[in-house]
Amino acid sequence: MEDKIKDLNNKLAEAHLGGGEKRIAKQHDKKKLTARERVQYLLDEGSFEEIGALVTHRTKEFGMDKQQFYGDGVVTGYGTIDGRLVYVFAQDFTVFGGSLSETHAEKICKVMDLAVKVGAPIIGLNDSGGARIQEGVRSLGGYADIFYRNVQASGVIPQLSAIMGPCAGGAVYSPAMTDFTLMVENSSYMFVTGPNVVKTVTNEEVTSEELGGASTHASKSGVAHKTSANDVVCLEDVKKLLSYLPQNNQEKPKAIPYKLNDEVREQLSNIVPDNANKPYDMHDVISGIIDDNSFYEIHQDHAENIIVGFARLGGKSIGIVANQPMFLAGVLDVNSSKKAARFVRFCDSFNIPLLVLEDVPGFLPGTDQEWNGIIVHGAKLLYAFSEATVPRVTVITRKAYGGAYDVMNSKHIGADMNFAWPSAEIAVMGAKGAAEIIFRRDIAASDDPEAKWKEKEAEYADRFANPYSATERGFIDEVILPKDTRRKLIKAFAMLEDKHVDKPKRKHGNIPL
Ligand code: COA
Repeated sequence: MEDKIKDLNNKLAEAHLGGGEKRIAKQHDKKKLTARERVQYLLDEGSFEEIGALVTHRTKEFGMDKQQFYGDGVVTGYGTIDGRLVYVFAQDFTVFGGSLSETHAEKICKVMDLAVKVGAPIIGLNDSGGARIQEGVRSLGGYADIFYRNVQASGVIPQLSAIMGPCAGGAVYSPAMTDFTLMVENSSYMFVTGPNVVKTVTNEEVTSEELGGASTHASKSGVAHKTSANDVVCLEDVKKLLSYLPQNNQEKPKAIPYKLNDEVREQLSNIVPDNANKPYDMHDVISGIIDDNSFYEIHQDHAENIIVGFARLGGKSIGIVANQPMFLAGVLDVNSSKKAARFVRFCDSFNIPLLVLEDVPGFLPGTDQEWNGIIVHGAKLLYAFSEATVPRVTVITRKAYGGAYDVMNSKHIGADMNFAWPSAEIAVMGAKGAAEIIFRRDIAASDDPEAKWKEKEAEYADRFANPYSATERGFIDEVILPKDTRRKLIKAFAMLEDKHVDKPKRKHGNIPL
């Protein structure tokens, strides 16, 4: 028995060394942690239980039968984060560059299957040279086995991806189908084809970082939801994100006990400028409403004309969607519609109530937007709100114009409580443009067209540039003082806590993609 125990311990020690000390040093030289170090850092101390530490690949071609490493390039298992069960896989770049073999894929699928059966989040730490080149189609099959599971698990358990090294070719599609993708700055990249192929096919010269680095995907493409300065910060960001989410779609996120106080926030009264054309930072409104320092922003540098993120309100997790007047006056365009729609659908899948803060002048006009399909992308957001059954509350802080009024969680598409500040303007369009269209003849016939236009503009503004026309019809439930907003919202969400909606049976809707 003693020899057998020694043998097992030797094998496990070998597994723990991954591709060996030399390759571990190389990983550290690149300022990257190893797969095991990442898992240790991510999970509560001592909670990790490994599954499949002694798995090896089955390839014999290209001399692979002489190259065996226990674990086959991925560390898999389960543990806890803040006491909550999670499943994890971490690709080990020190073993065949973390490349994905048939057995490597089988290990990932095993923990994914367990996560779905038990109902707990799965976290993937990606650091891989892609498909194991020596294995050919067996490796590609392994990817597809993972993709299929990503889709089956979507909306059932939260799936989080951290990209902590290369992630190229087919490998990108698993993170893309998970709920959130976090990338480490300067040491990770994602692309379907690398710079060499790009040069051959399109003659473009581009570096890996420009093509698919963290900042590219966080700002331009929106593929990354968040970026982090290094591995440790990234793992902290994963943990923090998880704290807003439930274990699965049958549960609600864990609430922090909270006792209602007077909740008056005077600072909210001075944010919206008197001049309706002046911008202000919607972040100030958000921080004035939510529990202190609880905002976790998603897609901070992408489509900045809309803000989305998680926060706590009275200790409970909520999702916030807010127009940002500081960027493009807060208009809805292709990217902001897609960004917000995806976020709304995530929150709805996982029972996270939605708060919408609205100051929207409409949709962005122009050929660029029309030719890129603003109709269909704007429809995504409209669809996402309309199908959401979680508690939904809107506060209109200033503009709510045109079709964008309907889209931004209006009463008509199923919002539960709609509030407006006294500064709200709920109309088909701004008073100046409206006057120009409907009083064109009066203005043209006038001796002083400019003065006439001003007069008609004031007339229209008087009728519609306020919240009362909508309130009289019940489209707004209550006009509230900015300073009372936090209290009103805590109470509204508490009132909606047990909201329940039964939907007619169907296979699935047909969201405009
Ligand atoms: N399959 C098998 N082995 C791979 C691999 C793959 N896809 N990608 C990397 N490796 C191995 C390398 O042979 C090397 O092995 P060694 O330690 O025994 O020398 C090890 O992983 C590290 O790779 P290396 O190229 O030295 O690392 P790097 O940091 O300089 O470069 C990459 C990383 C990902 C840019 C580079 O390895 C690469 O281009 N890999 C191939 C990517 C690809 O085309 N994948 C297939 C399509 S999805």
